[in-house]
Amino acid sequence: MTEFTRTLVTEADTLALGRALASGIAPGMVIFLIGELGAGKTTLARGLLRGLGYAGKVKSPTFTLVEVYEISRLYLYHFDFYRFTGSNNPRELGEAGFREHFNPQSVCLVEWPDKAAGLPAADVRVVLEVAGSGRNVSIFADSEAGVSCLKRLSAQ
Ligand SMILES: Nc1ncnc2c1ncn2[C@@H]1O[C@H](COP(=O)(O)OP(=O)(O)O)[C@@H](O)[C@H]1O
Ligand SMILES: [Mg+2]
Repeated sequence: MTEFTRTLVTEADTLALGRALASGIAPGMVIFLIGELGAGKTTLARGLLRGLGYAGKVKSPTFTLVEVYEISRLYLYHFDFYRFTGSNNPRELGEAGFREHFNPQSVCLVEWPDKAAGLPAADVRVVLEVAGSGRNVSIFADSEAGVSCLKRLSAQ
């Protein structure tokens, strides 16, 4: 099982999917959140953080590039690289000092991964598309950790 698809009729469904995805999260995982502006990437990240037990505010990292969450002993970095580069050439991750955020102890959620160069490969890719007033989502596992994560998700 390396792919999971679903229709998300309302925002609540996107939040619930994020929560469900949290059960499969392990330190070191990298999750790409792919989709156009308004597709629901930040909403899914918000649900995932809720699922990990974070009760505070989850802001979009649009202007800050990264928001940091410390959840018990886990660091979660939520990136949004939409504004990372002004040109068509993606900027280097290391150049911006973000390389060390990707380490075996942390979880990284990445919106607009195609706008940053030098990112590690994803364990899980979440692809969101606007469909009428709702969204379609496909989730792909690209590593063993990703496959375990999707198994957990599907078991719920
Ligand atoms: N399944 C859904 N159906 C309808 N609206 C949704 C759904 N999921 C999220 N939204 C809404 O879409 C808007 C944009 O969501 P957001 O997560 O900020 O998108 P992105 O981070 O991809 O730009 C928000 O108003 C959010 O409530
Ligand atoms: Mg966003």
